[in-house]
Amino acid sequence: MPALENLGLEDLRTLAVKTFRQGGGSRPDVLLVRSGNEAAVLKDYGRADPWFRRLVGPLSARREARALEQLRGVRGVPRLLCRVGSDALLLEYVPGASAREVPPGGLTPQFFERFYRLVERLHEAGVAHCDLRSTGNILIGADGEPHAVDFAAHFRRGRSWNPVSRWMYAKFCEADRVAVARLKKTHAPELLNEAEMQALARDRKTWLERGARLIGKSVRNLSRWLLTKKA
Ligand SMILES: Nc1ncnc2c1ncn2[C@@H]1O[C@H](COP(=O)(O)OP(=O)(O)OP(=O)(O)O)[C@@H](O)[C@H]1O
Ligand SMILES: [Mg+2]
Repeated sequence: MPALENLGLEDLRTLAVKTFRQGGGSRPDVLLVRSGNEAAVLKDYGRADPWFRRLVGPLSARREARALEQLRGVRGVPRLLCRVGSDALLLEYVPGASAREVPPGGLTPQFFERFYRLVERLHEAGVAHCDLRSTGNILIGADGEPHAVDFAAHFRRGRSWNPVSRWMYAKFCEADRVAVARLKKTHAPELLNEAEMQALARDRKTWLERGARLIGKSVRNLSRWLLTKKA
């Protein structure tokens, strides 16, 4: 059997042994594929609704691939194994659980230290994740090491001569750090320090965040309404 990276989309799909998320609407299929002792994750935007797939799927796949290329070699980020056609990505599989599956109280102080370090490494490499609030995007590897997945919403550091994009980048980096504090709040509030409590309080008040969330939500709802099947 050839290596997973050498297979086409249809062959890869026949090797699926688990569905992390079912595609449809504006969402991709996310599948665990296995062959012998090789495993990988297939993220396939080709299973979203037809209009979304045609217009947004290839853009999303390309965008995510670009971030993963920029982050290649960064510890805690799954390697992009290859792009599969224009709509799909094959990613290194991170065995473990997502933070969504961990009950409150199940994360240690050491985990949060490592998570802050991971966020710092992303930012040093020039990528703000922008969706770490979604606990499904934080994986805890078998060794307890945090990993970040799903870079579809990322924001990259702009050129030094562009103050607006650098300012936005700084804001999104701050939002990533606040996402760590939020996870602490839900899973280990006793570990929150004064600076994190202040950051969480500020976070509730910022108009930028509220505005960005409102615009993001409206764009998502509008594109879903225009591009996906109505129930
Ligand atoms: N490289 C990986 N290794 C292990 N599991 C992964 C990997 N990538 C994704 N997953 C699993 O698949 C789930 C969905 O992946 P991802 O977040 O990339 O897709 P999504 O369409 O944004 O889904 P959601 O809307 O649920 O966030 C993750 O929550 C995680 O459980
Ligand atoms: Mg996700």
